[in-house]
Amino acid sequence: MSVAKKEYKRVTVKSLVDMKKQGEKISMLTAYDYSMAKIVDAAQVDVILVGDSASNVMAGHETTLPITLDQMIYHASSVIRAVERALVVVDLPFGSYQSDPKEALRSAIRIMKESGAHAVKLEGGEEIKESVKRILNAGIPVMGHLGLTPQSIYKFGTYTVRAKEEEEAKKLMEDAKLLEKMGCFSIVLEKIPATLTKKVSESISIPTIGIGGGRHADGQVLVIHDLLGMTHEFNPRFLRRYMNLYDEMSEAISNYVKDVKTRDFPSEEEQY
Ligand code: KIV
Repeated sequence: MSVAKKEYKRVTVKSLVDMKKQGEKISMLTAYDYSMAKIVDAAQVDVILVGDSASNVMAGHETTLPITLDQMIYHASSVIRAVERALVVVDLPFGSYQSDPKEALRSAIRIMKESGAHAVKLEGGEEIKESVKRILNAGIPVMGHLGLTPQSIYKFGTYTVRAKEEEEAKKLMEDAKLLEKMGCFSIVLEKIPATLTKKVSESISIPTIGIGGGRHADGQVLVIHDLLGMTHEFNPRFLRRYMNLYDEMSEAISNYVKDVKTRDFPSEEEQY
């Protein structure tokens, strides 16, 4: 379906809700540094997520658990300096909001104050509702995250599709309605059956953003390194690679090494 696209000079949380109302799909991508965020923003991506996936793709950790609040603030402030149009959402990292609502609010305030971000994202539903409430009461927009929540990987044990069973699907639906009722502006649905994404998206007025959630989500998100093909080892079914940057970069860098070794670089024209 082709939809007349309204121009958004600056994307806000309200713009996203309007996009859902208008039937316009929302594009979201991760970025963690200034140079990448500049390109992503110029390409008119609606939402830039400074995800705690930085723990994997930027720092090389196996999970998202080790990244700290200070490190997230560093990444977020680099992104914010580059962005003119997109809404910038920042993940509250593991350990910065689970212990008590006051700490959750302190962490969210640090992100907003020290990075200049526009919103925060938290993983979970009912179990973190007091924290979500407190952050929202302080005027900080909150994006939820349900389904596969990587900060709980050791509870799940695997990264397989979530909420295939009725009981888990029912809880996910209840959590989505709860997050909407509390005032969250959007919810990420990660790695759940497409039929469940459809049901949830039709049951709430705030936009759902899918990653491995199928085509019925109101928007889609990918990790930028995966989209660009900078990673080789991660091959889930939901991932569409738009480039093979790993191979292109490897070739360019090998050529540089060869040129240095053979004294081809720098040439007469490339020196002073
Ligand atoms: O950290 C991240 O990149 C995320 C996305 C996978 C939604 O949370």
